[in-house]
Amino acid sequence: MAAPALEVDNLVKVYARRGQPPVRAVDDMSFSVPRGEIFGLLGPNGAGKTTLLKLLTTLLRPSSGAARIEGFDVALRPLEVRRRIALVLQETAGELLLNVRDNLLTFARFHGVAAPAARRRAAAVMEMFQIAAEAERKVQDLSGGTRRRVQVAKMFMADTPVLFLDEFSTGMDPILKRAVMGYLREEAARGRTIVLTTQILSEAEELCGDILIMNRGRQVARGDLNALKLLSAGVSDVALTFAELPPGLPAAVAALAPLRSRLDGNTVELSLKAEEARVLEIVGELSRMGRVLRVEMGGASLEDVFIELMRGQ
Ligand SMILES: Nc1ncnc2c1ncn2[C@@H]1O[C@H](COP(=O)(O)OP(=O)(O)OP(=O)(O)O)[C@@H](O)[C@H]1O
Ligand SMILES: [Mg+2]
Repeated sequence: MAAPALEVDNLVKVYARRGQPPVRAVDDMSFSVPRGEIFGLLGPNGAGKTTLLKLLTTLLRPSSGAARIEGFDVALRPLEVRRRIALVLQETAGELLLNVRDNLLTFARFHGVAAPAARRRAAAVMEMFQIAAEAERKVQDLSGGTRRRVQVAKMFMADTPVLFLDEFSTGMDPILKRAVMGYLREEAARGRTIVLTTQILSEAEELCGDILIMNRGRQVARGDLNALKLLSAGVSDVALTFAELPPGLPAAVAALAPLRSRLDGNTVELSLKAEEARVLEIVGELSRMGRVLRVEMGGASLEDVFIELMRGQ
C-alpha cells in the first residue's frame, strides 16, 4: 500500500537561544495524513505551526523524532522530499529579482516540467491568479498582495503531490481568495495532499476535511469538523438585531460572560456555553430589553470550538 502523504512520529524542535531558556516550538507531535486530504493546522500565534511546516519541508532539522513525506524521511532524504512538495511560507515573497513569469517557470523547471508545457501552464496560471499584466515585472516591485499571488500561483505550475501553505490567504482580496479556495479543492480532488495553516477559522471550516489544533507545540485536538464541534458540545451562537440598541445591552451581555461577543450596529452576536433551555431563556431576557427585528441561533462555529479548547490550556 502507498505510504500516507505525511507521517509524523514524536517530532520535536527545540530552538536554543543565547542567554534564554530554549523554546520547545514543536513538542512531541505524532500524526499522519492520508493522500488527497486538505489538512488544516490551527493554533494561536506562537503555537508552532510555521516551525512544524519548516520541519516537514526540510527547511529545519528536527531535534528528535521523525517525519516522512510520501514515505521519505525529511532528515535522511531531503532531496526526495523536496521533489514532492510545493511550499508557500508565511514570510516568503518569491525570487525577488526575477519577474513573475520567470518565478513560475523556475519552479516548473525544478520539478521537471518541460519548457513548452511550462510556458503554456504559466500563461494559464497567471490568468487564474490575475497576474498576467504583471508578467514582466520583478517580484520586488509588486505589492504585498500580488507577491502573495505569485507565491501561491507557483503551486499550480507542477504536480507535486504535497502542497504546504502557511497562511496562504494573507493579503489576498476576498474574491481571489474564494477562487483560490476553489482551486485548492480541485487539486485535492485530483489526489494532491494539501497542508495549510490558518488563523481564519472559517477558511479551515470550509476547506479542511481534517483539522489539527495545536498550542505550545503540542496537539490539542484532532478530527474532522463534526468531531471537533462535538468536543465543545453545548456551545450556541446567538445573534439578535434590535430596531434600536438598548442602552443596557452591553452590560447585560457582559454579565452573561459569553465565550465571545460582538456588537455590530444594532446587532449583538454572542456564543454561550449553556444548556439549550438556558440559551432560550437568555434570548428571551435580552429580547425584552428592546424591539427585536431578528433572532438567529445556531450551533458552534469552529471559532467557538477553538476558544473553548484554548481556555482549557
Ligand atoms: N528562529 C527562531 N528562534 C527562536 N525561537 C523561534 C524561532 N522561530 C520561532 N520561534 C519560537 O517558536 C515558537 C513557535 O513559533 P512559530 O513561528 O512556529 O509559531 P506559529 O504557530 O507559526 O505562529 P504564528 O501564528 O504567529 O505564525 C514561538 O514561541 C516562537 O517565538
Ligand atoms: Mg506562523
